[in-house]
Amino acid sequence: MLQRLVSLLLLALMASLAMTSPVGTGSTSSSSAIASLSASGGEKLVFCHFMVGICGNRKSADDYDADMKRAKESGIDAFALNIGTDPYTDEQLRFAYLSAARNGMKVFLSFDFNWWAPSNGAGVGAKVGEYAGLEAQLKVDNKVFVSSFAGDGIDVQAVVAAAGRDIFFAPNFHPGQGNFGSIQGALNWMAWPSNGNNKAPTPGHNVTVAAGDEAYINALGGKPYIAPVSPWFSTHYGSEVSYSKNWVFPSDLLWYERWQEILNLSPRFVEIVTWNDYGESHYVGPLSSPHGDDGNSKWAMDMPHNGWLDMAKPFIAAFKAGCTSPNDFVQEDQLVYWYRPTKRDVNCDATDTTMGGANNAIGNFFMGRPNGWESMKDEVFVVSLFKSAAQVHVQSGDQSQTFQAPAGISAHSVPMGVGKQKFAVTRDGNTVLSGTSLKDVSDTCICGIYNFNAYVGTLPAPATIDRLQPDALAMLSKGLKVACPMNTLNVALATSTCT
Ligand SMILES: *[C@@H]1O[C@H](CO)[C@@H](O)[C@H](O)[C@H]1NC(C)=O
Repeated sequence: MLQRLVSLLLLALMASLAMTSPVGTGSTSSSSAIASLSASGGEKLVFCHFMVGICGNRKSADDYDADMKRAKESGIDAFALNIGTDPYTDEQLRFAYLSAARNGMKVFLSFDFNWWAPSNGAGVGAKVGEYAGLEAQLKVDNKVFVSSFAGDGIDVQAVVAAAGRDIFFAPNFHPGQGNFGSIQGALNWMAWPSNGNNKAPTPGHNVTVAAGDEAYINALGGKPYIAPVSPWFSTHYGSEVSYSKNWVFPSDLLWYERWQEILNLSPRFVEIVTWNDYGESHYVGPLSSPHGDDGNSKWAMDMPHNGWLDMAKPFIAAFKAGCTSPNDFVQEDQLVYWYRPTKRDVNCDATDTTMGGANNAIGNFFMGRPNGWESMKDEVFVVSLFKSAAQVHVQSGDQSQTFQAPAGISAHSVPMGVGKQKFAVTRDGNTVLSGTSLKDVSDTCICGIYNFNAYVGTLPAPATIDRLQPDALAMLSKGLKVACPMNTLNVALATSTCT
């Protein structure tokens, strides 16, 4: 038991170290940082981080086809295949490479150094060599592209020697830690404002995403930068990860604001974080994308995010064209909206057992309302993508507001009210779009837990409801104190068609 506790604590420590991003604020001005950035040139590419580790239940390359098609259709060029050392990793990689090849997508390996050891450069290189020759392998500047999560200190020469070919190595080294002289580019993981120590900012400890950009651009000295963009961050794991993953980063309108920042910065590469990390709530891929349940279903169920990928499309197109505005790339009128399912001060302490239970011997520190909860606003966030100016009407519970939105893309927020969430778009007195969200804002804790994930809806509404599949719901009720009915959006739709 003690041994198990110790190893759990070690695991938590490793995870928190790996996630820590000690980006300084940098000393050079951002204008000189941008000047050195534009010198790097080359084709602009958009990547999306894909967790292979939760896809162990996929049976064939067919199970990857929908993801490949959807990503490509959105303008994503390649999936960064995040791999640990699970026994099924190679089988899944073969499926992913095969599916990518037949769907015109590219993929590359992204080694997760929570599981791989930086001392194992030869092992990393050998794995690169195994996949390097496959058709779907992304090559940049004629080199096999390779990335990572964490990995400072890896022996790059050993990687190259074992790979047996030229690689474009763009790992997630950290400025001041990894040797930036030995690599061709780098990924910054920190797509969220933080306190500099992997938690939400506090007054006086407030590291913006842009400060991370600057630190990386300075460390790279003109080499290509993979800038991160992420819609959200909320995680609420219990005993699975030593009660240590219970925090949010301020997210609200981050997805919109960060894409604007990306267009202004215009780096060579962008990485969307992520396609399918349901556990940290930053997925932009569908809930129906096949995966298993590591406990995340408690906050991912009924929380589709597909509207976020819709919102990104014009930004991706503008990024590739080198434009600073996405407005010329809006194809049709669309409203994308999102909100948390409960207000932030709802009290779930009596029922939330995911963190070990209210009187658990682990102690109180990691339990309860997630760290950083006060950095999220009780608002409904609305991004309008309009061909021409229109009026937007939002009724959130008993709160209602109307505002004018210009042609192109703009962001708005209105106070969140408990109850139904209704949206309409009118132009010259005519209703262009209207609908009721499939998810109400609740004044009780859904499934008895703190859930700071977002529900994302769109107008027009999608033709089908995006839902977690049975494998992805396997752990839904485990450890819960109150009933947690599955897939309630289904029921909500049936209700709303009658009202
Ligand atoms: C951190 O800085 C941002 C941008 O300047 C600001 O909007 C935010 O309120 C700050 N957060 C804290 C906790 O000080």
